[in-house]
Amino acid sequence: MILSPLTRRALMGGVLALGGLAALGRRPVAGQEGQAIRLAAGEVARRLLPDQPQPSMLRLYNETVMPVVRLQRGVPAALTLENGLPDEHTTIHWHGLRIPNAMDGVPYVTQPPVEPGEAFTYRFTPPDAGTFFFHPHCNTVEQLGRGLGGVLIVDGDAPQPFDADLALAYKDWDLNDDGTLGPFLTLRGAAGPGTFGSLKTVNGTPVTDDACPVYEVPAGADLRLRVLNLDNTRLLRIAVEGAESWMIATDGMPLAPLALNFWNLGPAMRVDLAVRTPDEEGTEILVQNLRAAVPVVLARLKVVGGPLGRAGKAPPALSVPFVPEPDLADAPTLRMVFSSAPGPSEPPAELADLPFADTLCLAPRTLWAINAQTWPEDGHAHPPAPLAVLDRGRSYVLQLENISKHTHPIHLHGHSFKVLSSSTDPDLPVHWADTTLLGPGERRQVALLADNPGDWMFHCHIIEHQETGMMGIVRVA
Ligand code: C2O
Ligand code: CU
Repeated sequence: MILSPLTRRALMGGVLALGGLAALGRRPVAGQEGQAIRLAAGEVARRLLPDQPQPSMLRLYNETVMPVVRLQRGVPAALTLENGLPDEHTTIHWHGLRIPNAMDGVPYVTQPPVEPGEAFTYRFTPPDAGTFFFHPHCNTVEQLGRGLGGVLIVDGDAPQPFDADLALAYKDWDLNDDGTLGPFLTLRGAAGPGTFGSLKTVNGTPVTDDACPVYEVPAGADLRLRVLNLDNTRLLRIAVEGAESWMIATDGMPLAPLALNFWNLGPAMRVDLAVRTPDEEGTEILVQNLRAAVPVVLARLKVVGGPLGRAGKAPPALSVPFVPEPDLADAPTLRMVFSSAPGPSEPPAELADLPFADTLCLAPRTLWAINAQTWPEDGHAHPPAPLAVLDRGRSYVLQLENISKHTHPIHLHGHSFKVLSSSTDPDLPVHWADTTLLGPGERRQVALLADNPGDWMFHCHIIEHQETGMMGIVRVA
């Protein structure tokens, strides 16, 4: 069907463009040779809205908004970052991949930053299959804010091929009337829920009251729908209308098919859905964000062709996760408390909407803390002592406690953890994650086997919170 070129190319590895129908696998950008892939970071003048008077200065990999990289689980990959940015260093973090620390892409902590004109090749063998993403870990609020990010799909978790495979990457842009973007970090945003963009997009295509991307999908078929929240700030609540659908993976980790009601996706979180498309050609399926005053249609899926005959069959399941189970019988519990930083945190009203840089001498740089420690402004160059030191090979329960008034998607590098329970949502299914969303006042227990040695970043993925203190290091040694 329409999406099958994507599946075929998956076997070779590669980088694909998303956006419009051309997105569905017809435009390889690089990566024909095994799993050798080039990702050139550069500045690109581009109109996000067709009628934009002036283009916006985006920062993109391979001149593509959220390119898709496909790898094969268990096959060594070499991904070369070429820094073509005019004026700043960068790195790539492979979000959710359990790879060696030296390949994790955190400047100074795991590698020297890649300066303009330089290149760095990341070499690793993906240990898991599923839906991941990648982004810089330097000035992330602006680099990711201007578009440096991409979808990473690792194949090798589907015993039976799906009839079609579609990724929807969500991102907002803080687009001003004159085409400029930003400010990416404001005191009001950083001290509150984050700064929201004014233009919503999916795969780089605007989502407005009367328009959104449209994709054709086969009738009576099993579609694998991968939804990624790649925004710095916005929380999504994903639901599907017009087709039966099941959750089959969270943050790239399979779970037994679970009928989808809705699923909350904080920044950096992903969900894979199996969508059983209706038999009738012309029917429409809506992918929606319910976390809005009125539901926002993120994408419309148009059913085309004759039915493939999946109706009435059991939903397609993925293979079991490759991540090792923690041993709960022998797992000490460590508390991790997320709070505002000690000291005043309400921004003075007259400063709140200025770009953060303009307020630096007038307001605190650190607004957030983990276990009362804030990540210092020069933290990458001079990292503070770890929040915790875990014994390699031992299992732990982390008790994550949000004692602040805002929601925090909490991410740990280098590991996936099992979300066991929530103090506010008794119905939360046990599931694997690398980023978990903690509402105000919520406590969650998550468990992991600390099997990947190194210093791993542990932070909120609302990037303004991360960059104003809600970050630390968890050491596995
Ligand atoms: Cu997407 Cu430090 O992470
Ligand atoms: Cu946060």
